Amino acid sequence: MKRTLGTCYYPEHWSRDVWEDDARRMVEAGLTWVRIGEFAWSRLEPQPEQYDFSWLDDAIEVLGHAGLKVVLGTPTATPPRWMLDRHPDMLATDADGRPRRFGSRRHYCFSHEGYRAECARIVTLIARRYGPNPHVAAWQTDNEYGCHDTTLSYSDAARTAFQGWLRQRYPGEGNDGDIQALNTAWGNVFWSMDYDTFDQIDLPNLTVTEPNPSHVLDFRRFSSDQVVSFNRLQADIIRAHSQAPIAHNYMGRITDFDHYRVSDDLDIATWDSYPLGFLEDRVKADDAHKRTYARQGDPDFQAFHHDLYRSVGKGRWWVMEQQPGPVNWAPWNPTPLPGMVWLWSWEAFAHGAEAVCYFRWRQAPMAQEQMHAGLLRPDSADAPGLTEARKVAREIADAPDVANRQADIALIFDYEAEWAWQIQPHGKGLSYFDLVFDTYRALRQLGLSIDILPSNADLSGYHMILAPGLMHMPDALKAAMDHSKALWVFGPRTGARDATMRTPVPLPPALPGRSLTVSHVESLRPDMPLPLEGGGAVTLYREIVEGDYEVMERLESDGPAVVGIDNLIYMCGWLDQQAMIRVLKSAATRAGLETLDLPQGVRCRDTATERFWFNHSTETREVEGREFLPLSVTRTEL
Ligand code: GAL
Repeated sequence: MKRTLGTCYYPEHWSRDVWEDDARRMVEAGLTWVRIGEFAWSRLEPQPEQYDFSWLDDAIEVLGHAGLKVVLGTPTATPPRWMLDRHPDMLATDADGRPRRFGSRRHYCFSHEGYRAECARIVTLIARRYGPNPHVAAWQTDNEYGCHDTTLSYSDAARTAFQGWLRQRYPGEGNDGDIQALNTAWGNVFWSMDYDTFDQIDLPNLTVTEPNPSHVLDFRRFSSDQVVSFNRLQADIIRAHSQAPIAHNYMGRITDFDHYRVSDDLDIATWDSYPLGFLEDRVKADDAHKRTYARQGDPDFQAFHHDLYRSVGKGRWWVMEQQPGPVNWAPWNPTPLPGMVWLWSWEAFAHGAEAVCYFRWRQAPMAQEQMHAGLLRPDSADAPGLTEARKVAREIADAPDVANRQADIALIFDYEAEWAWQIQPHGKGLSYFDLVFDTYRALRQLGLSIDILPSNADLSGYHMILAPGLMHMPDALKAAMDHSKALWVFGPRTGARDATMRTPVPLPPALPGRSLTVSHVESLRPDMPLPLEGGGAVTLYREIVEGDYEVMERLESDGPAVVGIDNLIYMCGWLDQQAMIRVLKSAATRAGLETLDLPQGVRCRDTATERFWFNHSTETREVEGREFLPLSVTRTEL
């Protein structure tokens, strides 16, 4: 399949006079896709049930006529002001009980039935009208679910829906659930928290001290399910009227809902890649690292999401929004080094993206994102990002296709595990995402290509399977491990809780046929690492184990830090990068995989036929006699 490029365009922001010229310039630049419509509700329905689709008809015609394919977004992330008069209680409520306000976007609660009905109404009208339109070649539902901390809502609508959800989860006679089953599952005998009826159950905010972790985990599952059903409502409507594929644009490091499950109702996963914003905002790294990559972005963070969303999309994924220059929303917003927009685009293709679309076409002269670059300046002159997009367009036209292949390594990323760690981190700031990302970074430093997978994935064909921090290990995964010849790398905290957030007995990780028990655990201040005999340290989190194992890494203070039993390696703590790289290098070798020692900033990724090399650093780097120029992309045959 040919790789393609696109951009995000807001015809409603610009005079009608410039649409034709914009479309022509997009085509001339080599773009194929143009995403429109996702924030345009107030212009499509200026007053309740008074519609104006004429401008959108016209815009789609202009863009399509110029040769572009339209991705049409549903406008449900930005309900117009009049919507609040109709549904004053539709606003999401934060954990302090305050309703979010109108005046930006995403100000709705996923559980509000009235708002859902309004969404179904507008999406039905749009899908009916544009489903048959030949220029509408793909759809996007809403915009960035969960962005701006909008998944969890503590509203009255959410409480009622949560009680209904719990009745289903703990079913009893008739329509009412079994409240004793819930009391038992949550362990409500503790602190006299027993309930008599489901109506008594509140949302887990504003409690005097911490709420029951089982209560919170069910609330997190419920909140995620609300996103799934909200999205499904739209996808079902669109599908009834259109053959075109349906996508959603996910974000970087937003983990409050289960993306795998949302995507079960979609055809393509897309995500919005803002490498410089993310570096400052969401990557755990020290200042020196952030300074080094301030204009390039973290060398692993985008790749991690590319690999994650390839899996979420079951192989079909795009970058729907690619940073084209400085953004406006991070603590600092530097300009990317020349060449980085080009490099980021190729990195996405190397990881299997079908399309990369730049956000946005023209920089806006008004409102919140005035400081956010586009491919054009506000005065319509070319911005530097456009030159790089043109270069990518020329190159993908000439380059051989990129064919994906299953990697040798599977790294499990599980949304419920992320929630479980957030609920019970046991140490300040300890995060599942960071643990998995540290593991991913170490594997990448070893030159390995990785598939990121859900815990219920088919793992056949993988040589090495890693599930660090997977707090609840489904029985099917334990069974898969039992029959597998792959090398499995677990810990810390793999299998530490059951599905209701209780400590299982026998104690974790309780793997069939393996004599290994985590007898107790501790968290460590960041300034009290426990050095290993072989170099590096256990940091932040440590487990003390009993069993019949081989000690692979030992603490200087004595005691095992990494143990092995048959084809299982268990990390009894959070290893720092030095130790993690050493342990994973020897594990990969044991699994029959070749590793590299990549210099700072160099990363590679294997496709079916070739290896892509990316040098994110501003220095020339050398790997096994081959030179890589600063900020370069190199393709070599495998
Ligand atoms: C994304 C969002 C866009 C725009 C962009 C700015 O999160 O989907 O609408 O706000 O960020 O970087």
